[in-house]
Amino acid sequence: MFLHYSKLPFSLRTLFTGALITLGFGYVFAMIQVYTVHAGLDGKPGIDANDIAIAYSGNANTNKLQEALNGPMMANAPSRERRAIIDWASDGADQAQFQKDIKPILDSRCMRCHDGHASGAPLFTTFEAFVSYAKPDTGMSLATLVRVSHIHLFGMTFIFFVLGLIFNHAYVRPAWLKSLVIAIPFLTIVTDIGSWYLTKLNTNFAWIIIASGALMGASFAFQWFVSMYQLWFYKYSEADSAFPPPPKSV
Ligand code: HEC
Repeated sequence: MFLHYSKLPFSLRTLFTGALITLGFGYVFAMIQVYTVHAGLDGKPGIDANDIAIAYSGNANTNKLQEALNGPMMANAPSRERRAIIDWASDGADQAQFQKDIKPILDSRCMRCHDGHASGAPLFTTFEAFVSYAKPDTGMSLATLVRVSHIHLFGMTFIFFVLGLIFNHAYVRPAWLKSLVIAIPFLTIVTDIGSWYLTKLNTNFAWIIIASGALMGASFAFQWFVSMYQLWFYKYSEADSAFPPPPKSV
């Protein structure tokens, strides 16, 4: 039992089309965001399972300071001074050595921004504040994961609920396939978010995160293209209808 798009008022089909277009753009930007946040975390260009694992579970061989000095903060100090800071951090970030060797570099190269002058730059005005960036990178904190989890669960539910409602008016057979495509995003949201936490215990769960994302994307694409096509181009025949014919009058 379902109503094909061709049986719906023009206004409702317009509403569906508008929602599909903005959801489609939203998905593209979400993919760009995923790429820019994760690409190159392992020091190699591009994005792979290693980058995903590092984002969630961290990388004991490095720290935020080293990542910043090899990345966005690179231009702020010559390589000899960057090397000195990186070595100090990986040698245990000793406070006495900080006062002797590191503080002068910070004062001349970094503090013009990290004293509160550049918005967004964390404050390096105390040793404690600075040394927190020299600790081994433990990945996303549990507090951050919980925050991102609830935003994802609510947000994704809305997206796939709207998309599923629209797609529900498409003619897709067998019926179990149609239901499966609608169910996949809801299942993969759970395996995706669950694996964020599990990746902290075992980095192989990064593969489940990737597989979940791929399946979710495939379901999104399928629902999007079938809906858009059938909204405006598909000739739906009455013979395909699941409705029983009207009862004959006696
Ligand atoms: C021109 C201003 C400027 C200078 C100079 C500068 N920084 Fe930054 N730094 C920023 C800003 C803005 C941010 C925050 C945005 C970002 O993370 O890119 C930041 C962020 C950072 C972070 C945090 C990265 C993270 O992952 O949260 C570290 C560590 C850092 N800088 C280290 C340094 C060091 C060490 C120096 C000196 C060699 C330095 N910065 C010089 C502006 C500056």
